[in-house]
Amino acid sequence: MMEKPQLGFGVSFIIYRLFLVLSVAISAFSQYDAEVMNILKNAINAPPSLRWTDPDVCKWRRVDCNAGHRVISIQIGNLNLQGFLPKELENLSELQLFECQQNNLTGQVPYLSKTLQRFVIRDNKFSSIPNDFFKGMTMLQEVRIGNNPFSPWFFPSSLKDSVALQTFVAANASLVGRIPDFLGTMPSLVSLVLNSNSLEGGLPASFANSSMEELLLNSQNGNYKLNGTIEVLQNMTSLKQVWLHGNSFSGPIPDLSNHDQLSDVSLRDNQLACAVPSSLMALPSLQVVNLTDNFLQGPIPTFKSGVVVDMSGINRFCSNVPRQQCSPLVNALLSIVQPLGCPLKLAENWKGNDPCNGTWTGIVCSGGNITFVNFQEMGLSGTISPTFASLTSLTRLLLANNSLTGPIPNELITMPNLRELDVSNNNLGGHVPSFPKKSIIIRIHGNPNLGKPLESPSSNSGGNGIKKKHQLSIFIGGIGVGLMILLLIVVIVSFMFVKKLKYFGKFGGLIMKLVHPHDGEVGKAMKIYVEDGGAPNQADVQGMVIPIQVLKEVTNNFSNANILGKGGFGTVYRGELHDGTKIAVKRMDSGLLMEKGLSEFRAEIAVLTQARHRHVVALLGYCLDGNERLLVYEYMSQGALSKHLFSWKENGLEPLDWTRRLNIALDVARGVEYLHASAQQSFVHRDLKPSNVLLGDDMRAKVSDFGLVRLAPEGRNSVETRLAGTFGYLAPEYAATGRVTTKVDVYSFGVVLMEMITGRRVLDHSLPEEDFHLVMWFRRMMQNNDSFRKVIDPIINADDEATMCSIRTVSELAGLCCANEPHHRPNMGYVVNILWPLVQAAWKPIMESSSDESGGKYGIDLDMTLPQALRIWQSLEGQSSSIFVKGSASQSFVTK
Ligand SMILES: *[C@@H]1O[C@H](CO)[C@@H](O)[C@H](O)[C@H]1NC(C)=O
Ligand SMILES: *[C@@H]1O[C@H](CO)[C@@H](O)[C@H](O)[C@H]1NC(C)=O
Ligand SMILES: *[C@@H]1O[C@H](CO)[C@@H](O)[C@H](O)[C@H]1NC(C)=O
Ligand SMILES: *[C@@H]1O[C@H](CO)[C@@H](O)[C@H](O)[C@H]1NC(C)=O
Ligand SMILES: *[C@@H]1O[C@H](CO)[C@@H](O)[C@H](O)[C@H]1NC(C)=O
Ligand SMILES: *[C@@H]1O[C@H](CO)[C@@H](O)[C@H](O)[C@H]1NC(C)=O
Ligand SMILES: *[C@@H]1O[C@H](CO)[C@@H](O)[C@H](O)[C@H]1NC(C)=O
Ligand SMILES: *[C@@H]1O[C@H](CO)[C@@H](O)[C@H](O)[C@H]1NC(C)=O
Ligand SMILES: *[C@@H]1O[C@H](CO)[C@@H](O)[C@H](O)[C@H]1NC(C)=O
Repeated sequence: MMEKPQLGFGVSFIIYRLFLVLSVAISAFSQYDAEVMNILKNAINAPPSLRWTDPDVCKWRRVDCNAGHRVISIQIGNLNLQGFLPKELENLSELQLFECQQNNLTGQVPYLSKTLQRFVIRDNKFSSIPNDFFKGMTMLQEVRIGNNPFSPWFFPSSLKDSVALQTFVAANASLVGRIPDFLGTMPSLVSLVLNSNSLEGGLPASFANSSMEELLLNSQNGNYKLNGTIEVLQNMTSLKQVWLHGNSFSGPIPDLSNHDQLSDVSLRDNQLACAVPSSLMALPSLQVVNLTDNFLQGPIPTFKSGVVVDMSGINRFCSNVPRQQCSPLVNALLSIVQPLGCPLKLAENWKGNDPCNGTWTGIVCSGGNITFVNFQEMGLSGTISPTFASLTSLTRLLLANNSLTGPIPNELITMPNLRELDVSNNNLGGHVPSFPKKSIIIRIHGNPNLGKPLESPSSNSGGNGIKKKHQLSIFIGGIGVGLMILLLIVVIVSFMFVKKLKYFGKFGGLIMKLVHPHDGEVGKAMKIYVEDGGAPNQADVQGMVIPIQVLKEVTNNFSNANILGKGGFGTVYRGELHDGTKIAVKRMDSGLLMEKGLSEFRAEIAVLTQARHRHVVALLGYCLDGNERLLVYEYMSQGALSKHLFSWKENGLEPLDWTRRLNIALDVARGVEYLHASAQQSFVHRDLKPSNVLLGDDMRAKVSDFGLVRLAPEGRNSVETRLAGTFGYLAPEYAATGRVTTKVDVYSFGVVLMEMITGRRVLDHSLPEEDFHLVMWFRRMMQNNDSFRKVIDPIINADDEATMCSIRTVSELAGLCCANEPHHRPNMGYVVNILWPLVQAAWKPIMESSSDESGGKYGIDLDMTLPQALRIWQSLEGQSSSIFVKGSASQSFVTK
């Protein structure tokens, strides 16, 4: 406990004596620092080169003390240290600077003094940092903690206290959850680097106030990534470098005209849409700009010479030629979607320079002019552009069932050919323009904030006939009151059939709502890489890594109660993410799969994730953790087809009628066709059977579990691993030789068809040998008409001739698929072509009977398929129109 004079308190002995108590306290602290430093020395196995031997720790290399002989700085980076940081470090209560980057230190990071100013622990093997680590660290300026294998953690809210923070770098640091708002309010924050984490959600609005210069949020690995718009960048005028690539940002690139220091902009691999703003092209300091793989529209942007530009890959520029302007129609449409936030749903399919070429979602043309805009039920928000008025040939403008705000623009009254305007069920406000002269049918109900004048006609005279929530308003210019009453009667009659949604009208032609049962399904945002022809790269796969903690949490620690099923190399659990998304987690049986190396496993996953199709169950992500190998799939609420075919009674399900079965067969055929013909790589499923056909909410089917055999080790001799399939479904040549071709799946598909026709499982051991395999039995029974009737599942109502005929055709197809010789079996394209017209025909009677019901000659039933609806509509319109609505027949044949 002796204090040596030369240690330099800067005080004389007299003072020393006078403040004995104080000095004892200080010397005691000094002693603590020495003790703590010695503990540290042992914990990190301090190498001799550090020469941490002097009894006075203040003389140690890379350690600094203040005048009070207290340790204020430890800088032990880059020394190949092995070991950990002891919890006693917290006792260095005057520590300002702690650096230990690029070592091999492990364990939890201990608490450190509130006096800390710089904290650098990046590139180590630390497992966690306490979430309240930064609590009270008001002097902190710089934090660098990336490249540590932390277990997933939320952004530490304790950092809020660090009001002096200038630099926060936590790349590749296992952060999950959202970026907190408070980061935008930190007055000194200049550099925020959070790339390669698993962050999700949007950019905080508070960033608008931030004077950040460097913002790197690229390459989030999680399931969701960062999303929403990047509009807040508009106000971040201090930015010099902004990297947002490899996320799910959508909407437009904002105006950047006040960003005179911005030099490095990377926005690639997002879902940004609309035209590149000229303010970006004109940035005075711009050096590098990356825009590749978005849905950017408009003309190809041009930048000053010297700017490094990367904008290969998919975008939606109207022409391949720089400086070439877009056609007037394209320009009009772009200015229409801008105030709608540049919705991805539209940008995805608006390719090229001709909106009338039949592929532009929501656009219907006639003779090169846009006549019909159908943006109903697209989840749109934003406002209605007055530019609609420039589409002078437009006769029908349907914007119903979105979340549009703002007014109905006055300009619309100038549209010479407009006959129908439907803005119902939005959130529009303001005065409704008065449409002059022509009779126009307008639907505005379901907009509580729209001006009053409209509500009075329907509530006065409509009274008892019209339901309150279906208030309908009609504007007629130049038509007498008598006619108006007549019109109202028509409207009332129409609304009596509102359940069936059948409309027929006299004013301005047929009114019809085009809704296809599959619209929603197809309309879901596709991942960018679906359309990317390139080979899978590491980034694709990395983007799908899901932390095991998350999977444990969502499956209630793989509880038995969450088990959905077993088989196909593992057990499948139900899980629900915090946003309510349901997922299915397949936990692979470890024994079988461990032989496959990690990198090989990843490579296989990369291939599997390439397969995206509406009739193939999507692989959403995966997790490798120690011995655990988990695959995460989309959740299919109605479960396996086998349940609906063979055990519907036990499960309290409705039996499947023939139409459903046909639909499911077509869905499966399309899914398998896709796998066989996929551009990336042809997959042979090898284990097609009803338990691998899963049904969604809408009872539409998807093929699951393809490709899993690839994850198993190769070259094993056992039949079980070499032969992936299930007995009964194996094609004879496959069972005999193990040779795999796509025809193996065709055979299995034939067996599945037979099971769907008969309701009988493929193998029935209770039957005599010649009948016990379904295929044998089925073939025999097919030989004459009487016995054929006996194979049909008794639960199917096959009384009418049409159904019988359809079953007969499918039976023949099944027989063909199960031919012994692989080259006698058809390919899946052929199968689809046989099934498709049958599905079409199966819907027809519904349409005919429902139009009878209504008594209307032109009744349109929304349950009919879209192509049918379109055909009827076209014939009524009496003109040839090029029509495209998502999910049309030609599209759904082969969707890649
Ligand atoms: C660290 O401080 C705590 C209390 O502040 C004390 O109990 C402990 O002995 C100290 N440890 C060392 C090694 O100085
Ligand atoms: C960490 O340890 C491994 C071997 O244990 C060694 O190869 C590697 O170079 C070390 N890394 C650092 C940064 O010291
Ligand atoms: C991310 O951090 C881990 C350790 O936590 C390290 O192994 C890996 O190399 C880092 N990745 C990159 C790209 O630096
Ligand atoms: C920006 O700062 C101002 C004043 O400090 C505040 O009123 C405003 O709410 C802040 N904006 C955001 C988006 O945080
Ligand atoms: C953004 O992602 C979250 C999940 O992190 C999701 O709930 C939300 O709907 C997404 N928002 C947008 C605009 O896509
Ligand atoms: C961004 O700046 C614009 C003016 O340039 C202002 O109108 C807007 O309110 C700002 N947004 C935020 C979120 O602060
Ligand atoms: C942007 O693109 C350029 C040119 O292709 C490339 O050199 C640069 O690395 C890219 N920057 C980022 C952040 O990806
Ligand atoms: C429409 O234009 C796009 C882009 O030019 C093109 O890819 C597509 O094949 C065209 N479709 C038709 C039916 O012409
Ligand atoms: C398209 O509309 C313009 C202006 O309304 C009209 O002059 C032109 O004839 C139309 N084109 C066709 C092919 O109908």
